[in-house]
Amino acid sequence: MPGYELWSDKERKEVNDVLETGILMRYGFDGSRNGIWKSKELEAAICETFGSKYAQLTSSGTSALSTAMSALGIGYGDEVITPAFTFVASFEAVLSVGAVPVLVDVDDTLTMNPDAVRKAITTKTKAIMPVHMCGSMADMDALIAICKEHQLILLEDACQSIGATYKGKYLGTIGDAGTFSFDFVKTMTCGEGGVVMTNNKEIFIKCDGYTDHGHDHLGADRGADLHPFIGYNYRISELHAVVGLV
Ligand SMILES: Cc1ncc(COP(=O)(O)O)c(C=O)c1O
Repeated sequence: MPGYELWSDKERKEVNDVLETGILMRYGFDGSRNGIWKSKELEAAICETFGSKYAQLTSSGTSALSTAMSALGIGYGDEVITPAFTFVASFEAVLSVGAVPVLVDVDDTLTMNPDAVRKAITTKTKAIMPVHMCGSMADMDALIAICKEHQLILLEDACQSIGATYKGKYLGTIGDAGTFSFDFVKTMTCGEGGVVMTNNKEIFIKCDGYTDHGHDHLGADRGADLHPFIGYNYRISELHAVVGLV
């Protein structure tokens, strides 16, 4: 069931509460926002609900994947093995960081076939990106074993499987990082939005900067922030975050 089928007065009220502060941006304006930080609240709720140490909201599932790849050090010329049965965004995100998507077959689970993954590994392979399609789950034990054997990164595209679990753990929280999409047709929607989840603080800090022009977010004065690395505007707005929170 897509999240938009559960639209109610609660969302309308919460969106209005944010509008009344006049602050629609997730960063800065500390004095005017009456203590309302909806994006931060949603990140904390995601960590709590799905059992992830860190969560970084983004403007979409696609930008969440690009952000995760960049933070994980996937870049120009690297090969990322990903299934042929997916939505185009999975390989768009690989291309967005200059890497090369290597498409492999799926099996009866609708997700990537671990034997096909093994056959696709080359000296340029940097990461394996399973896509948990339509609420199903990839064979994570097999993929983790391959990643350990070949020292590869494991990034989960869980955009279509919010809330599904593999051996008691939520999909998207098992690999080095994982992503959800909160677009309009997803199980949980913000209208538009996404998230990167990770248990690794360094990866999280990079995600935090990458989604906001590389800002380090260390001081109270946004204008005085340093920009230790390159980033883009992949921010979520407070209006979108509050819909997700409801
Ligand atoms: C498997 C998968 N990955 C990524 C995305 C991208 O999500 P978004 O539409 O939020 O950019 C989608 C969206 O449909 C998807 O199905």
